[in-house]
Amino acid sequence: MPLTIKPILPRFGAEISGVDLTAPIPPDVRDEIIAAQDKYGVTVYRNTGLDDEGHIAFSRIFGHLETAPRIKDRRPRHAHPELFDAGNLDAEGNIIQDELIRLHKKGDRLWHTDSSFIALRSAYSLLLAHEVPPEGGETWFADTRSAYEELPQAMKDRIGNLTAEHSLWWSRKMAGFPLSEEEISTRPSARHPLVHVHSGSGRKALYVAAHARSIPELPTEEGRALLAELIAFATQPRFVFSVKYGVGDLVVWDNLCSMHRGGNFDELAYRRDMRRTTVREGAAPLVKDDPFGELFRASGVA
Ligand SMILES: [Fe+2]
Repeated sequence: MPLTIKPILPRFGAEISGVDLTAPIPPDVRDEIIAAQDKYGVTVYRNTGLDDEGHIAFSRIFGHLETAPRIKDRRPRHAHPELFDAGNLDAEGNIIQDELIRLHKKGDRLWHTDSSFIALRSAYSLLLAHEVPPEGGETWFADTRSAYEELPQAMKDRIGNLTAEHSLWWSRKMAGFPLSEEEISTRPSARHPLVHVHSGSGRKALYVAAHARSIPELPTEEGRALLAELIAFATQPRFVFSVKYGVGDLVVWDNLCSMHRGGNFDELAYRRDMRRTTVREGAAPLVKDDPFGELFRASGVA
């Protein structure tokens, strides 16, 4: 049965219906889903009825799933290592009050791409809403393919061969987490081209994010100004939309052709339970010890 695909912006974002995600996905439907994902970059499935197991099973049609890091002194909320906790609840289901954890999570309110701070990049993220606040808590998405295409030619020429250094800890610092530049320098980071070809569509895309700390080919301040300029360009209203969640809604975004950020909400008053699976780029090798664990251990927080 053909899917119903309703674009959100003409070239970016689509709501998909006409498929039961809780049932096994036949190969022809999978192909349609992947084609829509490659074309629109962000897809929204409403009221899916998915539970944790169904969420993980559906995610596997996109590729190899990453495993979430275990954080020192913090009990994980989920039994499944494939689930990243993107909510504001602790293992007992209470709203997190700890100021440092809240500051750490605040980094997700900046425009970013998931896991760009790891050498093996993440392709798709699949976020499932389990409990949502009555107001706020939406996710905003920006189209980094159309943004690249609309850059002035002089800017395309300038950035074509540049790279960026990405650090998880840089975006945390930018959000207010207490860390010095020196500390960040001792922790792992990853370097990626600023522009790459999005393999699913053949279109070029910017690969910038709040995690991007510097452009190694340029003096620090010049590189940071350029990163800020590119992020500002790519997040102009014509490239951006937001998704407001209801319980059971699933959003799939491609980190290699979009940026996203969490919308504000009253995180001390309202519960928000969001769970995410993340798919490694390409035909990723199955790494026994996921690099997330390695990064957190090397950073002293796992
Ligand atoms: Fe994110």
